Amino acid sequence: MKYQFCIYGHPVLRQPADPVALIDKAIRILARDMLEIMGEKKGVGLAAQQIGQTVQICTIGFDPKYDAAEPGGARLNPEVELPLVMINPVILSRTGAKTDTEGCLSVPEIWAPVHRAWEVSVKFLNLKGELQTLQARGLLARVIQHEQDHLNGVLFVDRVSAVKKISLSGKLKRMKKKTEAELGLG
Ligand code: NI
Repeated sequence: MKYQFCIYGHPVLRQPADPVALIDKAIRILARDMLEIMGEKKGVGLAAQQIGQTVQICTIGFDPKYDAAEPGGARLNPEVELPLVMINPVILSRTGAKTDTEGCLSVPEIWAPVHRAWEVSVKFLNLKGELQTLQARGLLARVIQHEQDHLNGVLFVDRVSAVKKISLSGKLKRMKKKTEAELGLG
């Protein structure tokens, strides 16, 4: 694989991504590779920094059966075709709130409750360069917020409660140290 998968402690995860100026072949290849990596790693979303790229692209995809308020329920976003590739996503509005457990491929073996908006409106470019706007609810809205955070250099562990932060701090410190040692930093 030509990409390095970046784990907590890798400085690129803290670097805000640059907007994509032109959707050229390199961007299309990156998006295709991200979809593939997201699938291999069984993630529900992936942001470019997680594979060391600082451009505003994220991919989102999961089994439509999870696109429901409760197991077996009706789809919350029946009009949305998954997986999605979002280029230069901007969240325009957030409504409602829900706390739910989150994890991240770049922060392995840590799960924690995160408070997010239940519904978001987002605009982005698709791979054809067309401006799209999407109203997303439930898990899809959560993943959009999580990936949008990544593109700004923010991780879900930054958004957990103060108490949870304290309980995770030892684990996170060790993860960061290990990553920095592997990169020859610190
Ligand atoms: Ni993540």
